[in-house]
Amino acid sequence: MKNILLGVTGGIAAFKSASIVSLLKKKGYNVKVVMTKNATNIIGPLTLETLSRNRIYVDMWDTNPHYEVEHISLADWADMVLIAPATYNIIGKVANGIADDMLTTILSAISVRKPVFFALAMNVNMYENPILKENVDKLKSYGYRFIEAEEGLLACNYVAKGRMSEPKDIVEEIERYNIYSKIENCDTTLKGKKLLITSGRTKENIDPIRYLSNNSSGKMGYCLVQAAVDLGAEVTLISGPTNLDIPKGLKNFISVESAIQMYEKVDEYFKDTDIFIACAAVADYRPKEYKKEKIKKSDSDLTIELVRNPDILAEMGKKKDKQLLVGFAAETNDIKKNALKKLEKKNLDIIVANNASTMGTDSNTIEVIKRDKSSVEIKQKNKIELAYDILLEVILELKKDKNE
Ligand code: C5P
Repeated sequence: MKNILLGVTGGIAAFKSASIVSLLKKKGYNVKVVMTKNATNIIGPLTLETLSRNRIYVDMWDTNPHYEVEHISLADWADMVLIAPATYNIIGKVANGIADDMLTTILSAISVRKPVFFALAMNVNMYENPILKENVDKLKSYGYRFIEAEEGLLACNYVAKGRMSEPKDIVEEIERYNIYSKIENCDTTLKGKKLLITSGRTKENIDPIRYLSNNSSGKMGYCLVQAAVDLGAEVTLISGPTNLDIPKGLKNFISVESAIQMYEKVDEYFKDTDIFIACAAVADYRPKEYKKEKIKKSDSDLTIELVRNPDILAEMGKKKDKQLLVGFAAETNDIKKNALKKLEKKNLDIIVANNASTMGTDSNTIEVIKRDKSSVEIKQKNKIELAYDILLEVILELKKDKNE
């Protein structure tokens, strides 16, 4: 889906549409921009024309050199449509079949034949207006897609919900859609399923200043969360420390630090879970004793005694009844052999094996190994693509369980 029609409406966030065009162009998309008349008061058409390297469309009644019916030829050209910012007004118009300018007329000709995304942006009181909710629900029921606004400082000086999502996040949503829309019934494939995912590293405190931890970035787990949300699942993320943004659309986000805290939270949610994916890099050991005061340096060496942490996944393996369990094995050698050992020892359904050297990187090669020892290798993909692939294997395994 390389041809994106960007609709810019007259919200103050229209100034961010320049960044959206620029990011899309950098990613290789062809972009044509349609502005409402009001939007041209906020951002100059020349800016978007230069960035998109295409002429800007505003007025239905402009003459054009190609003698085309432009609202139809643009609707035919587009593979997908992004309206950013999408104001209260445009939502109301589209939801009620109004086509009184170039943008709304194109949208009426596209309907939902092609994916249409609205990136909402407005004052919080407009955002909470029940008429907007009704219009959004109606459009959702027809298949229109929405990128929710975020909380933050609004143009009206309120600190509240209504701020348009950041351009990089909007473009990321579009990019993800281009991957997951290839999956059959993508919006509903995990609908009604409760997923519990652990991610990040744990932090085992030694004293108020020092701790033991590891290099895990949490990226793979966060990608799995985002992918599961995209595929319609209800997701609870229990996360140790990371530098990542909390994925959007989550049911629960639970922040923990130590392995013991992570274990307690997993244990609490496990019963009511269909699929448990343990992606966290949990510390195997913690200091036997936590010193309440900073340990003072001395001239002699220091020994810290460590004790075993619970193996969260193995404990859930003992407790499992209906749950499907997925573990990860980051290994430095004999990757498949060691992963299979873990799968059996922890009573898992699937284990995802990979090379430990990929910690913190954006892409990876993995092997998804099942209980029956069958396996699928997925080579050098970025972590979000891997996340959809892993979830597809999970879905296949769920279907297999049902047939047995
Ligand atoms: O550390 P190990 O290689 O055994 O990790 C394999 C799997 O077990 C991973 O999915 C990890 O999240 C999980 N694990 C856990 N609790 C631990 C150690 C590992 O849930 N204490």
